[in-house]
Amino acid sequence: MNASPALKPGADTSQDPNTAELLAARPHLSMHAMDGLVLEDVPLNAVADALGTPCWVYSAGTIRARLAELRTALAGVHIHYAVKANDHLAILSLMRQGGAGADVVSLGEMRRALAAGITPDHIVFSGVGKTGSEIRAALAAGIGQINVESPAELDMISAIAHEMGATADVALRINPDVDAGTHAKITTGKADNKFGIPYDDAHTLYTRAATLPGIRPVGLALHIGSQILSMAPYRAAYARAATLIRALRESGQTVTRMDCGGGLGIGYGDAAGASPSAFAGALNGAFAGLDLQLMTEPGRWLVGPAGVLLSSVVLTKGHDRFMVLDAAMNDLVRPAMYDAWHGIVPVSAGNAVGQVVEIDVVGPVCETGDTFARSRAMPLVESGGRVAILDAGAYGAVMSSTYNARPLAPIALVDGAHWATIRARQPIEALWAGESIPDFTT
Ligand code: LLP
Repeated sequence: MNASPALKPGADTSQDPNTAELLAARPHLSMHAMDGLVLEDVPLNAVADALGTPCWVYSAGTIRARLAELRTALAGVHIHYAVKANDHLAILSLMRQGGAGADVVSLGEMRRALAAGITPDHIVFSGVGKTGSEIRAALAAGIGQINVESPAELDMISAIAHEMGATADVALRINPDVDAGTHAKITTGKADNKFGIPYDDAHTLYTRAATLPGIRPVGLALHIGSQILSMAPYRAAYARAATLIRALRESGQTVTRMDCGGGLGIGYGDAAGASPSAFAGALNGAFAGLDLQLMTEPGRWLVGPAGVLLSSVVLTKGHDRFMVLDAAMNDLVRPAMYDAWHGIVPVSAGNAVGQVVEIDVVGPVCETGDTFARSRAMPLVESGGRVAILDAGAYGAVMSSTYNARPLAPIALVDGAHWATIRARQPIEALWAGESIPDFTT
């Protein structure tokens, strides 16, 4: 660590990787003496000068490289990018270009995927509460697969498909009752989570599905959670799925596809994320020899490391106890919502080698939870200086709100030495554009 006299006495900063360590683990980011923090070949100060802060910046090259790495490791496995992680059309377009399909969970996500040119047959429709109109829209569009999460939903799909004269290719999402070992709010594969069909009910429901009009059961799906770093829960869940597939086939059912879900974790500090080859090992270990079309739905792993949230320091207060940013929990909610740890590094080289302090990095929103980092050992950045909050490419901009009447921040996409604005800052007036004032309030 860059210990310095400014550290509070007794502060244990050994947990926090320093700026150099954070950058070393992220080859798309580098610190240059003149240009400061550079993403691919674009100085982030240039983007912030043009767009203002807060703003999001994504690296196209990083997304392309990560998709290619995953595709190579998972040769033969169909990758359906989980649109919820980052649903910007340009990101979806990169996914399409790189050979991925899409996993969607709402009409809006389906329309986004289609608008980005992903063909319907490469789209899987997931989600625990699809409405009748979403199911109708999915069938009308010719979506490749619908993942069914309950008996009631199966009946609804059957009725709608039958009425439309369509056949829905469905996979039953099973709940394998496996603990993914991740944050409770993003664990989805335990029996008491709302997701999927209880493992013990799945055989009967699959058999019934095969008899329903408008339904063609094609296989199973599962997704046990997000930000998973150990392969053990995957192996446990996939072993249960493989057992069920064998039993279904023995009883005469046709099972051709296995949708293995997403959840691959990334390293938010300086530790490594989940390894694609280890994941490939978990898939092969369970399903090799079963002659299945394997599918997977990664979101975070593909886009998380590729994005940063740039923010300016508004002021410091409390004798360097707090660094108040112009970004807030309405922009990036992960720290407030999941106690998530995100690296925070200065954008200017001078600041990067400055005095290291132990400081709370907070936003201006009127909630104590609007805190990006607590007691973080990092270089002090004074008012007007900029910081980059790292690994904000997944579940960042998509989870933004306009709380405290703060407009949605702009987004830039970097590709090599070029960059483009891919979303303008939301005009303030847009915040109330859909609102009206009825007579009885005036
Ligand atoms: N498939 C399904 C059915 C899902 O529910 C999810 C994520 C994924 C795939 C993609 O998971 P990933 O590969 O991105 O882990 N907002 C939280 C994460 C929520 C994940 C929800 N489901 C966060 O910021 O950590």
